[in-house]
Amino acid sequence: MPKAAITAVGGYVSDKVLSNADLEKMMDTNDEWITSRTGIHERRVLPKDQAVSDIGVDVVNQLLEKTNTSNEEIDLLICATCTGDYIIPDTANNICYKAGLTNTFGYDINAACSGFLFALYTASQFIETGRYKKVIVIGGEKMTSYMNYDDRTTSILFGDGGGGVLLEPSEKFGVIDAILKGDGVGSQMLKIDAGGSLNPMNQERLDNKENFVTQDGKQVFKRAVTGMSTTVEEVLNRNNLEPNEINWIVPHQANERIINSVARQLSFPMDRVMLNIDKYGNTSAGTIPLCLWEYESQLNKGDNIILTAFGGGFTWGSLYLKWAY
Ligand code: COA
Repeated sequence: MPKAAITAVGGYVSDKVLSNADLEKMMDTNDEWITSRTGIHERRVLPKDQAVSDIGVDVVNQLLEKTNTSNEEIDLLICATCTGDYIIPDTANNICYKAGLTNTFGYDINAACSGFLFALYTASQFIETGRYKKVIVIGGEKMTSYMNYDDRTTSILFGDGGGGVLLEPSEKFGVIDAILKGDGVGSQMLKIDAGGSLNPMNQERLDNKENFVTQDGKQVFKRAVTGMSTTVEEVLNRNNLEPNEINWIVPHQANERIINSVARQLSFPMDRVMLNIDKYGNTSAGTIPLCLWEYESQLNKGDNIILTAFGGGFTWGSLYLKWAY
């Protein structure tokens, strides 16, 4: 059975920066509080006329160019997002259309901040069956469309951006194992209340600002640390790996303190943990591909890499792969 190897990675953020100093002008907060509690210095904001498909199209073009692949060769594109361009149509389809992927079918996966991990594992099955040769996985968000800048505890955390990977069959490299989990107890602890079929948008809900992300930050924090560290441990054990055999852990970037706690629980050194939350904040399904994109030059063929994420749902998990180039 072939493995699904990552053969290229791309990333995209807009140039527009929303710094802690900018937030100080918008709400009662300060750089010291945000930096010490979250590790975030700034985030990127997509312009009004851009959305997740624009991230996706840019990333697709990078992937095709890097691998000398033509548009017609892509079989499937999965887009992980919880802030897609529209409710209908799905964003993956829109990315395919705008990027000229004429032989590609696409669909979205919404697992909030675990979205990229869930999409990558799903996509890898298509390669493993032998039926699909080239599959693109995008993870991207426009979180700023769902931020209530009167809610200083949540709005300071999130930014826009994302990335993606091309998957191709390989004998030796690629996705080896994953443990993915879910627990609906989290459904009320991290959510956007209105705009779905249960609470369709109306003026009253808009006035109550129910169209924005709300969360129980403390609960989410605790569950994120436990969820990520235990599934990393499970994946290591199941594959007879010691932490010193892992070259990189790529954690979802929600809060630097969460990442530090996960590394501490695993006794894993922070210099092998990818970190870029200081520049981008939490881009939900975008954080893991953005990390891979930024650290690409430090990765080597055969590296053992663990991706781990936690998000709304709750959803969480860890995935083990061998880097292919
Ligand atoms: N600036 C200044 N003060 C702030 C603030 C801000 N942006 N946000 C909250 N505060 C204040 C609170 O009002 C509170 O003040 P009080 O003690 O006078 O009531 C104080 O800071 C502490 O608030 P608290 O909510 O206890 O802070 P915390 O240490 O739990 O940090 C989060 C809050 C949201 C940063 C933290 O809980 C977190 O990161 N949780 C995980 C969230 C997450 O990652 N979600 C996405 C998961 S995928």
